[in-house]
Amino acid sequence: MTGHIPVMAEAAVTHLAPRDGGVYVDGTFGGGGYSALILGRAACTVWAIDRDPAAIARGASLAARHPGRLHLIQGQFGDMVDLLADVGVTSLDGVVLDLGVSSYQLDDPARGFSFRSDGPLDMRMGNHGPTAADIVNQAPEQELADILYTFGDERASRRIARAIATERRASPITTTARLAAIIRGVLPPDRSGIDPATRSFQALRIKVNDELGEIERALEQAARLLAPAGRLVVVAFHSLEDRIVKRFMADATGRTPAPSRYDPRGLLAREVPRFRLLTPRAVRPGVAEVAVNPRARSARLRALERLGDALP
Ligand SMILES: C[S@@+](CC[C@H](N)C(=O)[O-])C[C@H]1O[C@@H](n2cnc3c(N)ncnc32)[C@H](O)[C@@H]1O
Repeated sequence: MTGHIPVMAEAAVTHLAPRDGGVYVDGTFGGGGYSALILGRAACTVWAIDRDPAAIARGASLAARHPGRLHLIQGQFGDMVDLLADVGVTSLDGVVLDLGVSSYQLDDPARGFSFRSDGPLDMRMGNHGPTAADIVNQAPEQELADILYTFGDERASRRIARAIATERRASPITTTARLAAIIRGVLPPDRSGIDPATRSFQALRIKVNDELGEIERALEQAARLLAPAGRLVVVAFHSLEDRIVKRFMADATGRTPAPSRYDPRGLLAREVPRFRLLTPRAVRPGVAEVAVNPRARSARLRALERLGDALP
């Protein structure tokens, strides 16, 4: 295992703009690259969340280097309001999310994310809930096809689901290598160089971890927790994630017409936090970063800031 090279860490932390005395959430601690940068940028406190117990265990040494400033919480960022309430935190100066899986997870065959090496068909970032094998062996064929199509944009979803249904009747599909071989049997490699299993593995991973539901819950909760001038920064890696982030930020920053100040809805609107978009268009990684870290290729960063409450 080679560790995880953080993607767009500089840009993310610059948009987060940590201040001395501020309280921040790194909702995707991973290898701790973002947290380390935030802690180095200001005399602030970081609450770092990760659903993967291995990531939390790995963070102990970074926490020891910043006594009282880095706190690690194992849990899902979609539950951040409750996780933080448990430790007495109800207001934040910033939240950062670097979505998806880490290289630690991807490169460890035992985690079952990779079609390149054989391992148990697991794909859970955390340690509970159904595995990819549970879904592959138990979901009705039609539901499997829907998963592959919706979360993987796999146009051969029906044929792949049919092949899986046939194979699992012979014996349960429990390894990444067998699943990848079934998919490659339906879709032979083409000239693109992209493994035919790529889209199906992405789809199953998103389903197993309810990744899109988690993002929706996290964005809504982060916006609720932000104090005035607090910032939310999100780095997304594929269009399904980025679409949710983009739409949420457009809605939160009032891309919909504001009601008149004499309209009763306008009075109500005074109670609702207001935000401004910091990234009118997604920020992309530079050529140099993509050259050293191909995983950065598809990254898109978006950010917003909560405005003050006072209305004229
Ligand atoms: C791309 S890595 C983050 C890397 C990190 N920024 C760094 O610099 O090392 C994503 C991490 O977020 C975690 N994660 C993904 N979805 C999560 C969720 N819903 N709740 C909590 N952690 C999650 C994964 O377990 C993984 O460790």
